[in-house]
Amino acid sequence: MHRWWRDAVIYQVYVRSFLDSTGDGIGDLAGVRAGLPYLKKLGVNGIWLSPFYPSPQHDHGYDVADYCDVDPTFGDLAEFDQLMAAAGRLGIRVLLDIVPNHCSSEHPWFKEALAAQPGSPARDRFHFADGRGPDGSEPPNNWHAMFGGPAWTRVTEADGRLGQWYLHMFTPDQPDWNWRNPEIGAEFDRVLRFWLDRGVDGFRIDVAAGLFKHPELPDSPDPEADARTRDSVNPLAWNQPEVHDVWRHWRAVCEEYTARDGSERLLVGEVSVPTAREHARYVRHDELHQAFFFDLLSAPWSDDAFHKVISEAMQDIAGTGSTVTWVLNNHDQVRTVTRYGEPTPEGSGLGPARARAAALLMLALPGAAYIYQGEELGLPEVIDLPDEVLTDPIFRRTGNRDRVRDGCRVPLPWSGQASPFGFTSGTESARPWLPQPDYFAEYATDRALADTRSFWHLYRDGLQLRATLPQLGEGSLRWLDTQPGVLAFVRGDGLVCAVNFGTVPVPAPVPGTPLLASGPCPTGVLPGSTAAWWINDL
Ligand code: NOJ
Repeated sequence: MHRWWRDAVIYQVYVRSFLDSTGDGIGDLAGVRAGLPYLKKLGVNGIWLSPFYPSPQHDHGYDVADYCDVDPTFGDLAEFDQLMAAAGRLGIRVLLDIVPNHCSSEHPWFKEALAAQPGSPARDRFHFADGRGPDGSEPPNNWHAMFGGPAWTRVTEADGRLGQWYLHMFTPDQPDWNWRNPEIGAEFDRVLRFWLDRGVDGFRIDVAAGLFKHPELPDSPDPEADARTRDSVNPLAWNQPEVHDVWRHWRAVCEEYTARDGSERLLVGEVSVPTAREHARYVRHDELHQAFFFDLLSAPWSDDAFHKVISEAMQDIAGTGSTVTWVLNNHDQVRTVTRYGEPTPEGSGLGPARARAAALLMLALPGAAYIYQGEELGLPEVIDLPDEVLTDPIFRRTGNRDRVRDGCRVPLPWSGQASPFGFTSGTESARPWLPQPDYFAEYATDRALADTRSFWHLYRDGLQLRATLPQLGEGSLRWLDTQPGVLAFVRGDGLVCAVNFGTVPVPAPVPGTPLLASGPCPTGVLPGSTAAWWINDL
């Protein structure tokens, strides 16, 4: 059996911002196909495509109206098949993003539920309930939605009167499925097989600790905790024991396909749960293959924090049969270059150097790694987008307060000196769906490829070494004793990775010239905000 996923490097393609082939200012599947040679050159093993299904795009595709088709904005099924064929020719695996916790309010089953009577089978596919209070005008419980506001919305019944409420843990445009109704599981079986039959290598599972809610839907002692932390912490709404049966079943479906050709179909879950122990339960041998380990992404730039999360991840994974799935960036978080660049007593220009060092650290860790598009260019977060262009539902749902996710979703710069930087071939009127700042010119892929000091070359070199050095990829690590502010570990029989989290140079932990370094690295010295790899017998 080919267990390719265990140390794969997967590139997250946020389709609407990758490359636009039609000139409407929105990236599409043909654009992804055109970009595949670029990704091959970079050296990734696979891509994860953000949702491209028919959707009103209230949460950029995480509100799915039809799970078995392509939104016309992004192409069609024939284009999808061409993309699969092209990826196959290049040896690039393809993962889809599947969204089983909720759908779109435009999904035909939700529309049917709205038109149906309270208590009907159509309503039982979702969480419809009567309100509280004498006239039912209070929501059925006190839960708040992840993106702000109540988790319940009241509907108008066929007779024109206000009636029942339905549950949505995200926006009102994303009603939660009722997984206690067997029709839902059966429908998702159909969806999985539909895409597996078209050749996909697996799925990134959205909100994989969701799906089931406490059967009684009781009040929560801390109803705003999810919105406050922007994390799934309401113990009544997430991480219910029944969800593990679904993952066992999905794993069995994948195994059927694996048995046909020996190549594993991957399930990687977006699993947000409170403890490492709970996290490990999702990747037991017969459940998900992997679950994103987000603690690295949320760790501040400090040796202690990184040491703690890496050690915990390795412990968490031990004995599960899985490997750690490292991630520094994704479409929901502030990009590393900006995140690590917070002002320090020494200045504020350290973000790029730290992001480069973090990349080299991540690529040296045991397990798999996910790279979010633009990370390989060192793109910063776009922090000054005007309010009127923001599209992230969190912004509106928090009363125009939280500007969270648009800044990492700005379309990629490919070439040239001015927006659209080759992202779209459209006319003047067809601008990228989010405006690109002028300074994106510095980050365009053509410049990055031409400059051996670019982020792109660092990622490419790191990926090439990962593909050739037996010490890298799957396995374990051994920490070395280092001075405060420095982390160093050995992989296999002598690949040493060290990171100086401080700002002043320290003696290198091993002699000799590094194989690869995230910045200028004279022999014997590890400068501040720098990571390096050496081959050494220790
Ligand atoms: C997690 C996804 O990464 C995010 O973009 C989305 O808004 C939520 N799940 C809801 O589907």
